[in-house]
Parts: sequence; structure tokens; C-alpha cells
Amino acid sequence: MTLDTPMATDENPAVGLNRDEIRALRRAYGEVGLSEADVHMDPIVQFQSWLQQATQNPVIVEPNAMVLSTMDSYGPQSRTVLLKDVSTDGFSFFTNYESNKAKAIEFNPHVSLLFPWYALERQVIIRGHAAKVAPESSAEYFATRPWSSQIGAWASSQSRDLESRAALQNRYEQYSKKYPEGSSVPMPAHWGGYLVIPHSMEFWQGRYSRLHDRLIYTTSPAGWQLSRLHP
Ligand SMILES: Cc1cc2nc3c(=O)[nH]c(=O)nc-3n(C[C@H](O)[C@H](O)[C@H](O)COP(=O)(O)O)c2cc1C
Repeated sequence: MTLDTPMATDENPAVGLNRDEIRALRRAYGEVGLSEADVHMDPIVQFQSWLQQATQNPVIVEPNAMVLSTMDSYGPQSRTVLLKDVSTDGFSFFTNYESNKAKAIEFNPHVSLLFPWYALERQVIIRGHAAKVAPESSAEYFATRPWSSQIGAWASSQSRDLESRAALQNRYEQYSKKYPEGSSVPMPAHWGGYLVIPHSMEFWQGRYSRLHDRLIYTTSPAGWQLSRLHP
């Protein structure tokens, strides 16, 4: 497949932003700070509070979107997934168990999650290890998904080569006939959730002069320990 979108080149500089225009994309961060006295002792509670604030900000679309980074034998890879639960156990998302991310997690279960809440001048970075959730828990969530998403989970061999859009549409139609709308769609064996059990959680708040606040919680035998990092 070839793409006909023109690329920015020296001969065709009008397409896209040039280096100076990209470098000029900067903004000053605010006065709202993050102090040790303000945050909760439990980072999960602190996270819940920030997530709630993110959901209340009209500029933030998909406040539960998080960038999941994994490592495989080629190196790191990042992609967005949606947070579907958070509790003292950890952070859950759902996906295809035969996807690239699933293979990477099998290769190395240590992962990172990043919540990019730029409109609040915030990010949260979580490091931890991922484990599959119990099939019953996945099935419970699968049953709550819209029918079209359930059929989509059957139709997509996520991360594998796809010959054409039409081939995917065709698979979707086949599964729509097999499991008509209104019927109970079983969860595919290749689909389910992961729980990321955190061992560190960093809360970043942008500040003036790039003197940002970074508070990081790390696990220890005595429980969560809070410390501050240079920005
Ligand atoms: C906003 C957003 C939300 C997404 N949510 C999910 C999700 O919850 N689960 C999922 O498998 N893919 C989700 N995706 C697609 C993934 O980013 C990715 O393309 C897909 O999972 C294949 O990744 P992989 O080939 O690295 O396994 C989402 C993408 C975007 C942009």
C-alpha cells in the first residue's frame, strides 16, 4: 500500500511545521503546586482524586486513556488503552490476548502506564507488573460492552496483518450473523483483562520556570513511601 500524503521536504517547506515552529510550541505552567501535605498517603486514593478532576475537565477527552508501554525482544513499544477499573489491587484494562502487547507482557510483565492530563498540567506515571485477570472477571465486563464492540472483539485478530478494510468488514458481518444483535455474545478465548499491580506511582504537576513538582510513591515492606524528585 502506498500513501499519497505529501511529506514536508526542503523543496516543499510549506507542508507541516518547521523546526523553529515546533520549538516555539511552549507554554508557561501554573502556580498550582503539589506538596507532600496536600497528597493522600495512599497513592491509589490520590490517583482517584486526580482522575475525578480529569473527568470534570471539559477539555480532557477520554480521561481514562492511558499510555501502556511494554518491552519485547525488539525494545519498547507504547500504545493507548482505556482504564476500566482501579482499586487497591491495581489498574485494569482489556484487550486481545494474542495482540503484540499481550506477547510483550508474556515476554516481560514489567510495564508502565502514563496518564497524560495536559489540560491540567499533570501526568501520572505508574510502573508495575501486569497479570491476566480471572476469566470470570473478564467475562463479567465483556457482557456489559455494547453488542457492536463484542462483535468487534470476535472480528479483530488484533496486531496481525490485515489484507484490506473489506476483509475486516466481512469478518464483522460473519460474526454478526453468528451472534445476532440481542443474543448473548460469548467472550472470545483470545480476549480479556490485565491488572497492573503498581510498585511506583509518580504524580507530576507543571510549575513555573520548569520547576515542576514530582511526588513519587514507591512500595516498601513498610508500605508506600513518598519522596520528591528533581523536575
Ligand atoms: C483512545 C484510545 C483507546 C484505546 N483503548 C484500547 C483498549 O482499551 N484496548 C485495546 O486493546 N486497544 C485500545 N486502543 C488501541 C491501542 O492503542 C492499540 O492500537 C491496539 O491495542 C493494538 O496494540 P498492540 O498491537 O501494541 O497490541 C485504544 C486506542 C486509543 C487511541
